Amino acid sequence: MFQVAEYIKASSKTVVFTGAGMSTESGIPDFRSRSGWWKQVDPRTVATIEALEQDYPLFHEFYSMRMRSLQKIKPHDGHNILAEWEKRGLVHLVATQNVDGLHQEAGSQHVEELHGSIKQLKCQQCEKEATTDEFLEGKPCSHCGGKLRTCVVLFGEALPQQAWKQSFETIKEADVVIVIGTSLEVYPAGELPFLSNGKTILINLEEVENDFDVTITGKAKETLQRINELLVIVE
Ligand code: OAD
Repeated sequence: MFQVAEYIKASSKTVVFTGAGMSTESGIPDFRSRSGWWKQVDPRTVATIEALEQDYPLFHEFYSMRMRSLQKIKPHDGHNILAEWEKRGLVHLVATQNVDGLHQEAGSQHVEELHGSIKQLKCQQCEKEATTDEFLEGKPCSHCGGKLRTCVVLFGEALPQQAWKQSFETIKEADVVIVIGTSLEVYPAGELPFLSNGKTILINLEEVENDFDVTITGKAKETLQRINELLVIVE
């Protein structure tokens, strides 16, 4: 871990790439662990355009449940540390697969949401923005009567262009990429960390198949707390 602190200190561009494991310690389930969403619900039934078109009640129930549960959720110290590192010039971008907005809530300013946001809503038909309340109340689009949805990217949909471009370009120039809490199983986001010629660091509870310069098997929050303490020593 000392080496990670040294890498961060020496880097002139560091990107943090996060997945659902970053948010489990705030109380949000991940997707592929034993208690993850995709162990309880088949993603084909709720996370595809077909699901939205063919079984809207189930689609609506799934996202309503996730949106409601988020109302009580707060960022944890790991999110706060990443925001603090950005203020100190140690982190330049958080590229996240998470849709929960916790990095922004913790104060990170440069965040790219590769899989969209569950806090933004739109009409599937005309793309007009909608509010959380309209969605939760089960209303149709006020403009065209179409089905409302979250802006979470569904399987088969393209990633938000700006988030992809910004993440791609920053990672390519990064000296250090810190990957936290992701199985890296979902394409194309999962390929982004390896576009860097810099050092790659993984912080994850379970093993991931890809090769990293440094692998730390552990929880996001306590690992970030430990690295944060070590940064003081390196300074
Ligand atoms: P996964 O559920 O696939 O992977 C989460 C990883 O985080 C697992 O390897 C866990 O072991 C690890 N983990 C869990 N808790 C942790 C903790 N406290 N500290 C460190 N690691 C921890 O989630 P993602 O890789 O984010 O897409 O999944 C990618 C995408 O698949 C998601 O963005 C979502 C899903 O379909 C969309 O919704 C578009």
